[in-house]
Amino acid sequence: MTDRRPLASGRVAEVRIFAGGADRLDAIEPLWLMLSAHHGELTPPELPVRAPEAGWAARRERYRRALEDGAILVLAEGPEGVVGYAFAHPRPAPESLAIERLLEVETVAVLAEARGKGVGTALMEAAIDLADKWIGYARLGLTVYTDNVAALTLYRKFGFDIEGTARRYALRDGELVDVHMMARHAVGIDGAKSRRNASRKNTKTERKPSA
Ligand SMILES: CC(C)(COP(=O)(O)OP(=O)(O)OC[C@H]1O[C@@H](n2cnc3c(N)ncnc32)[C@H](O)[C@@H]1OP(=O)(O)O)[C@@H](O)C(=O)NCCC(=O)NCCS
Repeated sequence: MTDRRPLASGRVAEVRIFAGGADRLDAIEPLWLMLSAHHGELTPPELPVRAPEAGWAARRERYRRALEDGAILVLAEGPEGVVGYAFAHPRPAPESLAIERLLEVETVAVLAEARGKGVGTALMEAAIDLADKWIGYARLGLTVYTDNVAALTLYRKFGFDIEGTARRYALRDGELVDVHMMARHAVGIDGAKSRRNASRKNTKTERKPSA
């Protein structure tokens, strides 16, 4: 994982990009509260609408549980504290699906003052590196508001394609808005499938007779 990473534009001197566990969740609370104050910038919102602190408590607990199940948390820390984070979590794939392992990018968020300086790029790079090398997935998916140009630009940079558009999918500030479904696919999905079949076979042969 990258440690000190000088950013491309040089407008932010240094930001440290690192993977975190549940013990780092408190570090993102101020950022989450600030961003959630700008309604609709973080998806999905905590519903039903609650006080920000209660919203954070619910989100924190969900993140904590997801981290126990192999989720990825990457933080960007500047001299003043955390300026951004990315969070991705595995999704169980039903047996009937052709896809072995689904990962979902739930949040990539950068403090307003720190945007446009490469922080989002550095976060995505680190999160995808972790997902590619250590978590493994057949499909890394996400949803994004169709008018979120910054996020669309960021995701396209990392090979995410628009696979479809869900009309009037999300309620944002009293308006039903469209979202794009985007995904990046790992190479060797067939390999992932056959690994799963192989491990099933192994499970069968290795299963001990019940006493
Ligand atoms: C989306 C977000 C995470 C991007 O973070 P960032 O630190 O500004 O991203 P970067 O500086 O690395 O820029 C990434 C790319 O997007 C482009 N970009 C950034 N802001 C842009 C904007 N407002 N309009 C068009 N392009 C933009 C950059 O030029 C860069 O592309 P390039 O490398 O080809 O030049 C940030 O804008 C954000 O936190 N937004 C609010 C939360 C959000 O919407 N998250 C996504 C939810 S799905």
